Amino acid sequence: MASVAVIAVDGPSGSGKGTLAVALARRLGFRFLDSGALYRIVAHAAITGGFDLADGDALAGLARRLTVHFELTQDGVTVRLDGTAVGDAIRAEPVSVAASRVAAHRAVRDALLELQRSMRRPPGLVADGRDMGTVVFPDAVLKIFLEASPEERAQRRYNQLKDKDLGVSLRGLLESIRERDERDRTRAVSPLVPAADAIVIDSTLLPIDAVFAVVWQRVIDAGLARA
Ligand code: DC
Repeated sequence: MASVAVIAVDGPSGSGKGTLAVALARRLGFRFLDSGALYRIVAHAAITGGFDLADGDALAGLARRLTVHFELTQDGVTVRLDGTAVGDAIRAEPVSVAASRVAAHRAVRDALLELQRSMRRPPGLVADGRDMGTVVFPDAVLKIFLEASPEERAQRRYNQLKDKDLGVSLRGLLESIRERDERDRTRAVSPLVPAADAIVIDSTLLPIDAVFAVVWQRVIDAGLARA
C-alpha cells in the first residue's frame, strides 16, 4: 500500500498541528491519524491498571492489544477504543504527563508502529504526531513541522482546557509543556525533530487559517489537490 499518499504533520503540542491536520483531512477527504491519542490511550490504560510507567515491556503489551479508530465528525474527531468513544479522559493533564513517559519507550513505539501504518489506506492519510515524517511514514509525500513558542502553546492549551474544569493553571501548563518538550526532544528513540525534507512553519504569530493557506499551496504543488 506504499503508493497511498500520506501527509505528515509533526510538531509539539499546542503548535496547531492537530487543528491543521484535521482541516487537511477534511478538505481532502483523507483518513486521519492522531498518533498522540494512541500514546495517551496507553498511558490512560496504564494509570487505570496500576502499571509501572518505567516498565516498557508491560506497556508495550498494553499497546499491542489496542484496536483504535479515528472518525472525523462535524465538530472534531471521535477516537474509538474497541468501538467505544474514549472522550476527554485521555486529554487530562496527568495523562499528558504519563503519555510523554510512555512514549519514551522503544518497545511501546515499536508496538504502535504497525497499528499506525495500517491506517494508511485509500484515498490517503493525514498523520498527526511527532515522528510521522521521520519514522512512521518516511516516504510521506508532504511533511509539515509546526513550531510555536512555549508561552503561546501554553496559552492555547489553557484556552482549550479552562472550560472543561480539568483543574489547570496557565503557569502549570507552561511548566508541564517545557518539561515534556525537553523529554520529547532529547529522548533516544524517535525524538521530536523535523525530518530533513520537512517544511518548518512557526505558528507563534500566525493564525491557523494563515498556516492552512501556506500548507494548502504545498498540497496543490504536490499534486494532491487542484488550485
Ligand atoms: O500530541 P499529543 O500531546 O496528544 O501527544 C501525547 C504524547 O505522546 C506527547 O508527550 C508526545 C507523544 N507522542 C510521540 O512521542 N509520538 C507521536 N507520534 C505522537 C505523540
